[in-house]
Amino acid sequence: MASGKGGVGKSTVAVNLALGLKKLGARVGLMDADVYGPSMPTMLGLVGQRPKVKDITGTVKMVPLEAHGIPVISIGNIIDPEQAVVLRGPRLAAIIKQFFNDVLWEPLDYMVVDLPPGTGDVQLTLVQTVPVTGVVLVTTPQEVALADAVKAMNMFLLPQINVPILGVVENMSWFTPAELPDNKYYLFGQGGGKKLAKASRSVLLGQIPIVQGIREGGDSGVPAVAQGGIVSEAFLEVAKNTIRQVAVRNEMLAPTTIVKMGG
Ligand SMILES: Nc1ncnc2c1ncn2[C@@H]1O[C@H](COP(=O)(O)OP(=O)(O)OP(=O)(O)O)[C@@H](O)[C@H]1O
Ligand SMILES: [Mg+2]
Repeated sequence: MASGKGGVGKSTVAVNLALGLKKLGARVGLMDADVYGPSMPTMLGLVGQRPKVKDITGTVKMVPLEAHGIPVISIGNIIDPEQAVVLRGPRLAAIIKQFFNDVLWEPLDYMVVDLPPGTGDVQLTLVQTVPVTGVVLVTTPQEVALADAVKAMNMFLLPQINVPILGVVENMSWFTPAELPDNKYYLFGQGGGKKLAKASRSVLLGQIPIVQGIREGGDSGVPAVAQGGIVSEAFLEVAKNTIRQVAVRNEMLAPTTIVKMGG
């Protein structure tokens, strides 16, 4: 889940996409790689919980926490937020690597990774740690958000990184009041998602309206997909389209390779 700009709804989309995929029958894991500002503990009602550790023939492994039936790992459940903000370079890279290598993930069909905003250390560490199947870009309809998302897109498409863009989720596409479910108010303009899909030669995976329940769900640990209703439908659509685009990607393109840098 990537975008250039902060606050566009990456984490919201990541959580609801993961739960949507699960609802469709897939085995899904969720990794909160936003080591600077982890939001999974709050969004999934896991604040204060600590993953258990297990000794597997001499090496210590972490057991992911579980929320709504999916395994989750977040720095927010491992170290205090005050410590996380000062993480830099190698230490940060080590944590991302541990999330893949030292966590007891059961066999999964999809691993959804929530990224911090921008094109920084975490993104680079990720592509150097695992072969990333593809990127879902999240944007809001405005030009400013779009410009930042294009930067994120360009980073993943660099020849030496070469991770395909699976598609675009346009979040906060319009506002729909709960009492007037058929009304749409385009607060942030229109067309950003479509433009980004075109620029990345991918597809629009879905549009998510601004609905109070999404924000409340994020704060209360009960994500939109788990609440039902139109928003749940919108996220399920995103999940279905993502499954399709992963299949198309795997049909059309060679597997991604781990990025080797500096030699
Ligand atoms: N479609 C929506 N309708 C209503 N509220 C939303 C919607 N999408 C996201 N929000 C709310 O907006 C805020 C920001 O969303 P979120 O944390 O998912 O963004 P983000 O891109 O992950 O931010 P950051 O860059 O800080 O990681 C949250 O409070 C979330 O609940
Ligand atoms: Mg986030």
